[in-house]
Amino acid sequence: MATCTPFQRVLTKRVSMTVWRAPGRINLVGEHTDYNDGFVLPFALEVGCTAVVEPASPGRDGWSVRSAQQAEPVVVRRSGLSAAPDVPEWSRYVLGALWLLTDRGVDVPALDLRVDSDVPSGAGLSSSAALVCSVTRALDDHLGLGLDDDALFALTRDVENDAVGAPTGGMDQLVSLRGEAGHALFCDMRSHETRAVPLDLAGNGLAVLVADTRAPHRHSDGEYGARRSGCEEAARRLGVPALRDVTAADLDDALAQLNDDELRRYVRHVVTEDDRVLSVVRLLDEGRLPDVGPLLTASHISMRDDFRITVPEVDTAVDALHEAGALGARMTGGGFGGCVIGLVSEQSVESAGEAVRAAFADAGFGEPSLFTAAPAAGAHPVAG
Ligand code: GLA
Repeated sequence: MATCTPFQRVLTKRVSMTVWRAPGRINLVGEHTDYNDGFVLPFALEVGCTAVVEPASPGRDGWSVRSAQQAEPVVVRRSGLSAAPDVPEWSRYVLGALWLLTDRGVDVPALDLRVDSDVPSGAGLSSSAALVCSVTRALDDHLGLGLDDDALFALTRDVENDAVGAPTGGMDQLVSLRGEAGHALFCDMRSHETRAVPLDLAGNGLAVLVADTRAPHRHSDGEYGARRSGCEEAARRLGVPALRDVTAADLDDALAQLNDDELRRYVRHVVTEDDRVLSVVRLLDEGRLPDVGPLLTASHISMRDDFRITVPEVDTAVDALHEAGALGARMTGGGFGGCVIGLVSEQSVESAGEAVRAAFADAGFGEPSLFTAAPAAGAHPVAG
């Protein structure tokens, strides 16, 4: 008997409305390591995106997408990606899954989709992964596709890479799909195996204070792509499949083989960052959360001096958090703006926040937004 791939399965499920929610994320440590096949340790946030999928109103044969954050809906004919019309960028994160499923042989019926997100956009908290993952999970459920964990992850990553055209590395989608409350998610970005690691903030009297610097993202798209191709070039010159294959013990030898200072800095960042992720996971497994602080700070220094993806606003926030007694602080996410996290005692959340505000005022920067974050659940269905 011929076997059916999930994409060819007959669509037998009949439901009127399917609702899923998927979260944004904070990355505790492991920046720009995902597209180097390395290690990351993000956690899912309480804020997220809710996606509703329902059959289109009778007589309408197409896909409509409405966002509570956008004035105009987008309505398109059903098609694959190659025949996709020109639509506003935000809607490509939603329509991308429909286009790719169509390309993979699924006869996706006429549908209405609605999305509503409370992840601040442009803050580096992965509002895009929340959007893509909530829609993809809702579609899989609504259409009865039965995609397994790997297929769901691959589809969400392909939406961002192929349908939107953002060369991101997959960490955000993986944690939005698989995050667990009370835990960070240790991800091997080569095998895509994940393991939930306890992140017991309250039990240690600690908090993750987030400072959204609201710094304008300066040339972030081009810089991200440049870092990614620089890392790939360095791996090619070193004769390894990816920088993940250079270990901390090999680092000096690897650096000695490269004569380009920029590539040397990229390699040093990625190799030491992978090593920091492994060290943080080890400490968390041993129940030594307060001891991870210096590794978070070392990660920031590496992003600032070697990978060169920080901006004055994030460096100012990190310095202010340290001066206010944080155990560790670093920028989180792709860089060139966005959020900084500080590991602080519960008692010092207010004063550490005040210190960041005061430092921003002194430097003449705009007002930052400050809040605490704790690990929440990954994508989950919501009663419709
Ligand atoms: C962005 C990308 C991720 C990852 C981070 C940097 O968030 O979407 O894939 O590369 O930057 O760690």
